[in-house]
Amino acid sequence: MIKKTVKDVDVGGKRVLVRVDFNVPLAQDGTISDDTRIQACLPTINYLVAQRARVILCSHLGRPKGRVAEELRLAPVARRLSQLLGQPVAVARDCVGPEAEAAAAQLKDGEVLLLENLRFHPEEEANDPGFAQALARLADLFVNDAFGASHRAHASVVGVAEQLPAVAGLLMEKELEALGKAVEDPARPLAAIIGGAKVSDKIGVLENILDRIDALLIGGGMAATFLKAEGYEVGASAVEEDRLEPIKGLIHRARCRGVRLLLPSDVTVAERLEAGAPAKTVSVAEVPPGWLIADIGPTTLAQFAQELRRCGTVLWNGPMGVFEMPQFARGTRDLVKVLAGLKATTIIGGGSTVEAVTEMGLAPKMSHVSTGGGASLEFLEGKVLPGVAVLENREP
Ligand code: 3PG
Repeated sequence: MIKKTVKDVDVGGKRVLVRVDFNVPLAQDGTISDDTRIQACLPTINYLVAQRARVILCSHLGRPKGRVAEELRLAPVARRLSQLLGQPVAVARDCVGPEAEAAAAQLKDGEVLLLENLRFHPEEEANDPGFAQALARLADLFVNDAFGASHRAHASVVGVAEQLPAVAGLLMEKELEALGKAVEDPARPLAAIIGGAKVSDKIGVLENILDRIDALLIGGGMAATFLKAEGYEVGASAVEEDRLEPIKGLIHRARCRGVRLLLPSDVTVAERLEAGAPAKTVSVAEVPPGWLIADIGPTTLAQFAQELRRCGTVLWNGPMGVFEMPQFARGTRDLVKVLAGLKATTIIGGGSTVEAVTEMGLAPKMSHVSTGGGASLEFLEGKVLPGVAVLENREP
């Protein structure tokens, strides 16, 4: 690891601003439905507490677009963190300004404070220097443990790191080591399984990753656009018409480069994407007019499993179907079981994919479950994440 970590610097008695990614999924009633991202930061927080640092945590939650959104306040996260740490976590009603400054000033050695949602201020996403300075004023040292947000050049990720000594947290270190190996020296063949709802979210990744992989397996809502590009009728499934030509180009490139491309051969289709709606499994050549593709089918799963068994490394990002609805979660869940049984290095990223793996209790069976969605994809594409680039390097 070329970046300095929190263990390379003296933190005792210091005010340490830690950027974490507590962007956790929330249930309808506002409770935290998966606390993986909070748990993942515990090693850094516990280390700082043990070293008697004054720990000032900051995070975003959701996309409030620069306005205060009551349902996106971080108080529930602070309560959960407090339970996990076994010590109180103070909360500030803002992340900068007099209230945040007073809360930070009151902290004693070994105490923990969580600032309010950074994205309540438009200056955060704009990487505004004044806002970064206001954050920097709270601390003596900056630690980035928010791997999941490090592809964003925001004030709390990049701006503040330019104004304080800035090092990596222990989660950041773990992510960079696990994903770094998959990029630099993967056991081959290397397969990428890419799913999720929209092709437009993943097209850049697909374009960039193609040169590095040996097999590409496509599932989820975005498979409809791939199937359409291959000449299939996909009923009422959402097809991104403006992406058809780029996808045709991608398929052509994959074939020219000898990348094995696996699209679904059978799918679960539904009359409507609603619980209890009529559904059936059909070949991709027989999607009825007006029906929607909601999941991959069992033949596809078997073909994916066969391909994956010959791989040395498997990267997976994005569910295979409408995973939020139990009726259409089967393809994703069965694929989790396949990966859990592989000898290959398995690297999982992306909110819903991680949720599936965690919920099924199979995270320990994976080589690495990343806390990053977009960040892990960008990293695996070979991009330098701005929030990582800005951290101090170790002496050679
Ligand atoms: C994520 O959930 O991937 C990170 O927290 C980044 O969130 P964002 O996509 O809203 O920037």
